[in-house]
Amino acid sequence: MEIIITDNYDLMSEEAFKLVKNLVRSNPNSVLGLATGSTPLGLYKLMSDDYNYNGTSYKNIKTVNLDEYVGLGKDNVQSYAYFMNKYLFKNIDINLNNTYIENGLAIDKEKECKRYNNLLNELKQDIQILGIGSNGHIAFNEPFTSFDSVVHVVKLAESTIKDNSRLFNSIDEVPRYAFTMGLKNIMNAKKIIIMASGVNKAKAVYELVHGKITEEVPCTILRNHKDCILICDKEAGSLL
Ligand code: F6R
Repeated sequence: MEIIITDNYDLMSEEAFKLVKNLVRSNPNSVLGLATGSTPLGLYKLMSDDYNYNGTSYKNIKTVNLDEYVGLGKDNVQSYAYFMNKYLFKNIDINLNNTYIENGLAIDKEKECKRYNNLLNELKQDIQILGIGSNGHIAFNEPFTSFDSVVHVVKLAESTIKDNSRLFNSIDEVPRYAFTMGLKNIMNAKKIIIMASGVNKAKAVYELVHGKITEEVPCTILRNHKDCILICDKEAGSLL
């Protein structure tokens, strides 16, 4: 795994942006695997600005997102579909029909998992962007998720509910279940960029780089990927 440690969050975002921009420019039909959360916000801002000022086009780009809360539709401000629209899609010239995410409102969850899984088998990510949970989760694959997992519904870990409650009015409002790509879907990506910022990610980043490869710490599977880059700021990399 290649490792890039930057002085701060902005420089971490810049490093990831350079790779994404290169791909979008060299292959305007690429598939981008995207994440939500605080970590990629700087990257999405750089992509939005670059579209505005330099005209980098996303017209024929397709995107697949990692995960979505069960029970939240795209008009709910807490949904990941809403997040993607707000922070990226509405700021660039992407065709919304080419942006894919699990349907949080699907009644038949098993069917929805199959649908999304089939889609991912068709649309292999050229780059997959990831953040990391303080417990080492990637997407919503919590500790002890099988390395062979594909799209599934997960019960969120207490630590994840607590971490994510900062974005809700109260912890009780945080959904307890989510749809998520499985670890196998993530490993299918041609290239993976995992970003981490802040001291609360330091332990997970240490495990990612030096820990035993084990389902107990889901991110450790990334060490088996042939083209994975960790880009973190110096706080997140402070235990390396
Ligand atoms: C988001 C996702 C999660 C986050 C992780 C870190 O789509 O799948 O794995 O990447 O929880 O979240 P932040 O970036 O908010 O610290």
